[in-house]
Order: sequence, then C-alpha cells, then structure tokens
Amino acid sequence: MNEMNQKNEVIHQYKDDSKFSKRQGFHDKYSTNKYGFRNWMFDKYEIKENSKILELGCGNGLMWDEKYEELPKDVHLILSDFSSGMCDLVREKQKNHQNVEVKQIDIQNIPYEDNSFDIVIANHMLYHVEDVEKAIEEVYRILKPRGIFYASTLGVNGFQKYLNQKFREFNKEMDFFNIENWSFTLKNGKDVLKKKFNKIDMYEYEDSIEINDENILVEWVLTSTVLQGIKKEKLEGLSTCFAKDKDKNGMIHIPKQIGCFIAVK
Ligand SMILES: C[S@@+](CC[C@H](N)C(=O)[O-])C[C@H]1O[C@@H](n2cnc3c(N)ncnc32)[C@H](O)[C@@H]1O
Repeated sequence: MNEMNQKNEVIHQYKDDSKFSKRQGFHDKYSTNKYGFRNWMFDKYEIKENSKILELGCGNGLMWDEKYEELPKDVHLILSDFSSGMCDLVREKQKNHQNVEVKQIDIQNIPYEDNSFDIVIANHMLYHVEDVEKAIEEVYRILKPRGIFYASTLGVNGFQKYLNQKFREFNKEMDFFNIENWSFTLKNGKDVLKKKFNKIDMYEYEDSIEINDENILVEWVLTSTVLQGIKKEKLEGLSTCFAKDKDKNGMIHIPKQIGCFIAVK
C-alpha cells in the first residue's frame, strides 16, 4: 500500500468528479502544450470498424465527449469505472450515443469472458488499484489474441516530484506525492506489464506547467487523493515555498512527465 492505492481514499476521492474535474481544469489551463494529452492519447488508439472496446476507470469520460463522432462504424464501446457516481455521470452524458454502454466494473474482477475485446484502455488509474498484477491478468484475459492494451500514467520526473520536493521543503515530515512509491508509473509500469505481455512500447507526451499564482497550486494539492484528510490551515506557508520559484516575470515553471504504454497480446 502507498499513498495512492488505499481503497477507502480512492473511493472517497472518486465518488463523483468534483475534485477530479478541478484537476483536469487546472491542467487544461496551465499546461504549455496546448494540443492536449487527451487528443494525443486518442490519436494513439488504433480503432477499426466493428472494434469492441472496453475502458476501465474512465472517470468522468471527458476524453470521449468530443470523440464519439470520430469513431468508425459499428464500434462497440463500453465505458466503465468502479465508482457508481462516475458511471452515472458518463451514462447521462452519452445517452444519445448508440453503441456506447456504461458499466460499473472493478478492473481486478472484470465480468467478461476470455478473448472478448479488441482494445482495452486504462488511463491514469492503475496506480490507484490495490492489486495491480491482478488487474493486468484480468486485462490480458479478456483481450483477444493481438488485442491492444493502452495504459497512460505519470512519470517520476514531473509535477509529482516537484510537489514532493516542495512539501519536504515546507515540512520534512510531509513526504506527499512520493511518486517513486507508486505502483504503476512510466518508470516501473513495463515491469508490471511484462508479467503478461511480451510486446510493450512506451511513449511520452512533452509538456510542462506555467503558472503565476502560487495559491492555485495549493488549491490543486488539496483536491488530490493523497491530501484528502488534510485541512487547508495545515498548509499555511506552503504557497511561499511555491512563490520562491517565480522567475522575473512572476511565472513558476514546473516539469510534467506523462505518457502511455501500448501492449499487444
Ligand atoms: C485519475 S481518474 C482517471 C479517469 C480517466 N481514465 C482519465 O484519464 O481521465 C482514476 C479513475 O479510476 C477509477 N478507479 C480506481 N480504482 C479502480 C478500480 N479498481 N477499478 C476500476 N476503476 C477504478 C476511479 O474511480 C477514477 O474514476
């Protein structure tokens, strides 16, 4: 167990998208690469006519909101999440799209037969799963032979590393965002996937954050899974640590490391 995969914390964090959508909004606004990670990720998908696709941990399904029209003919897309709140949100948004189904599913116990999907997607969610090896076994089992698994995640040299350094500077007891301990990152993800998959490629998306308001960074950390129990008053002074990094134009520049694995069965 680590700060990211404690079941009760994960359930609480994603009972709806109130916190998650704030973090998405932050990245959309302050990321320097305006192409957008969701577009970059969608470009990677090799979706053919009649493909059967399952997304696990789809969250609020934001990526699909602008992509349904781009899907080839007769694709059957199942969007799923273990949070009933997220499923309700997505169900409401996609109700006019035929061929799209929403289901509540835990990736560690997928209720489908062996060899049933052409594509399985698990974006930014494997580091939240208690038993990531079981999750990968399940994904592998339900993929058809030559089926493709797409899994996006974070790298250890990006925003989380920066936040960890800032927290340690603020209070050395606060080892938050210690991404080196997370169970599925761009650094250790291949070792996890290798237990089932032979062909695995990794891709990185170039990006960074530029922001001039240190208080918005404090608001961001307060929406995260790892700080759910922490009161804002406990973080008084953290904004000063962020403000120290401002350049002469008042901007804070923060690296991001984000990308995906593509694994073929
Ligand atoms: C960071 S969000 C990512 C959402 C979406 N994939 C995206 O990239 O925008 C993580 C999602 O994974 C879901 N999740 C966490 N553990 C899960 C599990 N064991 N099975 C299925 N979904 C899970 C959460 O409910 C949450 O919606």
